[in-house]
Amino acid sequence: MTPKTFKIKNFGCQMNVYDGERMSELLAARGMSATAEADDADLVVLNTCHIREKAAEKAYSDVGRLRREDGSKPLIALAGCVAQAEGAEAQRRSPMIDIVVGPQAYHRLPEMVDAAVGGNRPVDTDMPTISKFEAFPARRKANPSAFLTIQEGCDKFCTYCVVPYTRGAEVSRPWDAIVAEARSLVDAGACEIVLLGQNVNAWSDGKHGLADLIRALAGIDGLERIRYTTSHPADMSDDLIAVHGEVDKLMPYLHLPVQSGSDHILKAMNRSHSTETYLRIMDKMRAARPDIALSGDFIVGFPGETEADFQATLNIVDEVGYAAAYSFKYSARPGTPAATMEKQIPTEIMEDRLARLHERIEAHQLAFNAGKVGQNTQILIERMGRHAGQMIGRSPWLQSVHVATDAGPGDIIDATLVAAGPRSMTGAILQKVAA
Ligand code: SAH
Ligand code: SF4
Ligand code: F3S
Repeated sequence: MTPKTFKIKNFGCQMNVYDGERMSELLAARGMSATAEADDADLVVLNTCHIREKAAEKAYSDVGRLRREDGSKPLIALAGCVAQAEGAEAQRRSPMIDIVVGPQAYHRLPEMVDAAVGGNRPVDTDMPTISKFEAFPARRKANPSAFLTIQEGCDKFCTYCVVPYTRGAEVSRPWDAIVAEARSLVDAGACEIVLLGQNVNAWSDGKHGLADLIRALAGIDGLERIRYTTSHPADMSDDLIAVHGEVDKLMPYLHLPVQSGSDHILKAMNRSHSTETYLRIMDKMRAARPDIALSGDFIVGFPGETEADFQATLNIVDEVGYAAAYSFKYSARPGTPAATMEKQIPTEIMEDRLARLHERIEAHQLAFNAGKVGQNTQILIERMGRHAGQMIGRSPWLQSVHVATDAGPGDIIDATLVAAGPRSMTGAILQKVAA
């Protein structure tokens, strides 16, 4: 029977969230409607992530849980990075999986659903040169803060990472397509656009770079805020740094992963930058935009990481004074060079280092947030809070701010930041300025 309803479950990064929205639009264009729960859907799409340990195992157990009490099951599509990595093997391991579709092939999902209804078990992990983006319907609905993928894939081949294998080579979308999609997102209700890419600052159309694109997007009426993520230090051009000092709509926030504070670990990771070049970029960012909130990613327990290497990571955290940072235990990924390196670090040591790093990062987050107490600023309201009358929004520095207000999602309000925690702030309303 042809499915009438669907549920897409997203895991992993923001690019998967974007892909999930696109798949949802494709299915809706076919007359299907979304359900709140997987249990009520005729088709369930698991949009998976492969970045860390046991990703595939988790995906298979998630598939298993889709079996219903009466023994029936929905049509199941495995999508995302696990689908890309496992390919047809996924259907050998789990007979419940009807469709396997990779991140560069999901524009074909509707036809694959038809094929599955016809009794086939389609697998598509191609990385077509004709961009999937051209197959998508126009944007009709957008969150106040909307994602827009402008670049995909990665050519950097950090020795621990699966992304170059699951997402393919670096590809930039054309300028006109991006500007048109940004306009349609704003028409559909977005007031903030977050430009996405695995290496978003590598975006280029041959003539322009990301800085030029940001300048152009800033000219769109009704678009109030622009952000971009994730950047790589090797592609952090002076022009992109400069644009932070020029364009008011570009929010004062930069997520720039460093991974480690030790140069020989960075080398073994094939990161193509040193701690010195990284710190110099952060200095230049602060010179261009003194109030910038800096953020990063860290991996602890990369093969060969000594206590001294780890201390160097703690030092770089202190030196940058991050407003936010994300840290992960190293996870050996099959097929990556680091997985077979000597001196893999025992789990207990990784856990101990992760806890110490968390503590250090949290202290800096709290210090950054505390430094903003008393500041008048603007909050983009995104959603309802836990208590009646309470809303949650974002400050320009991407702090999550709780505020009692009758403003709704998409409103930008003037507020004073009145109290700080390590992961969020409380704001008090001044006056509503835009609706
Ligand atoms: N392209 C981005 C993000 C890649 S994935 C970048 O290069 O920064 C997001 C984060 O996951 C990485 O920054 C890294 O900190 C972490 N990560 C990637 N592979 C990992 C692995 N094998 N083990 C642990 N963390 C990993
Ligand atoms: Fe992975 Fe490195 Fe590419 Fe980031 S730059 S996606 S960490 S290979
Ligand atoms: Fe995960 Fe793929 Fe994103 S592995 S982090 S969903 S690019």
